[in-house]
Amino acid sequence: MKTKPMTTLFINIKELVQVRELDVMKVSGKNMSILPIIKNAFLIIKDNVIVDFGSMNKLGIKKSDKVVDLTGKLVLPTWCDSHTHLVFADTREEEFVNRIKGLTYQEIAKRGGGILNSAKKLQIKPEIELFDDAEKRLKELIQNGTGAIEIKSGYGLSLESELKILRVIKKLKENFSIPIKATFLGAHAIPIKYKEKRADYIQLIIDKMIPEIAKEKLADYIDVFCEKGYFTSKETDQILKAGRKYGLIPKIHVNQFNSIGGVKVGVKNNALSVDHLEVLTDEDLSILSKSDTMSVALPSCSFFLGIPYTNARKLIDANVPMAIASDYNPGSSPSGNMNFVVSLACIKMRMTPEEAINAATINAAYALNLSNKIGSISKGKVANFIITKPIKSYSSIPYAFADNYIEKVYLEGKETQTK
Ligand code: NIG
Ligand code: FE
Repeated sequence: MKTKPMTTLFINIKELVQVRELDVMKVSGKNMSILPIIKNAFLIIKDNVIVDFGSMNKLGIKKSDKVVDLTGKLVLPTWCDSHTHLVFADTREEEFVNRIKGLTYQEIAKRGGGILNSAKKLQIKPEIELFDDAEKRLKELIQNGTGAIEIKSGYGLSLESELKILRVIKKLKENFSIPIKATFLGAHAIPIKYKEKRADYIQLIIDKMIPEIAKEKLADYIDVFCEKGYFTSKETDQILKAGRKYGLIPKIHVNQFNSIGGVKVGVKNNALSVDHLEVLTDEDLSILSKSDTMSVALPSCSFFLGIPYTNARKLIDANVPMAIASDYNPGSSPSGNMNFVVSLACIKMRMTPEEAINAATINAAYALNLSNKIGSISKGKVANFIITKPIKSYSSIPYAFADNYIEKVYLEGKETQTK
């Protein structure tokens, strides 16, 4: 028997933030500074979908099963986190301390730390334990307002262990109601045993890993860490092309420390996004401004490693669309808190609150290929949204950088327990 749909009416919303028509997929350049809001608003959801919203004085008489009064509170779409490495075996506090003492991220990696350190630990950790840890982390992120997420492999670096991570991500997809996208990042680093024969590792990725992952339908996207000491732009091109043959869309790590042609290769391969961009040449900027590829900045990584922040002003001035993401991982960003990411974008990258919120919602949804479903308050989109505690305005969110202003998170129209 079909159950009757449940309609909930939220009234007296102080600010209903990021209201858009359903067909807006992303915003670029000057349009990023526009964040459409309705003050003193109502919102109606039917089961898991947003069906109506508007100004309170246009509410009239609407039938609903439940009415929720949100006087003084804001409603905004949940954050979309388009770049994380959520499945990892262990934290890396020892490297953190070594960096405080003066070593750089690259020096630590050369000594066998970094990604290879994480891979060593992950290879021996059972799948079930990886799942339990990742599940805990994801629950916490949802409490912090994340309502859609991308998760990468890349700490396996062998066929078996890469599959292990991707199966954990698959299980997360089955166990959570938020949209989760999986990215295959076998090309995260050259494993120690392939140090003298890197071409063989690349062949392993192309001939064995990609076909097997595609066969089991374990990934949506393909990623490469295109960087000095990791993968060249030529190798990146080779791997992306191999992935595309199996329907894996590129989303890649580029320009974290050096610009070595990754942006060009990414755009040429129709990358959905190019991520990091702490270093940006004029050529990169010009290529990005003519593409449909989303530029993703990862301010928590810059904050944690003490490296330059992505030049948001330059990108926005060049009419490039920008998203921001957490890069949650044990080495360069041991936090997936998107509220802090939004704050950092404002405080350190000189993005306005409007630009930063657009970057963490609608544009981040684009970087997940999900802007038809999430990323804004639009009729027909999934009812994933944040209800704040009573606050002054949406600018209070980045302003009060260490406060938790989230009162409730709704996923698919249902209230989740945030405490
Ligand atoms: O996005 N840069 C490459 N990958 C991660 C860091 C991985 C690690 O250090 O474990 C990043 O920053
Ligand atoms: Fe990353």
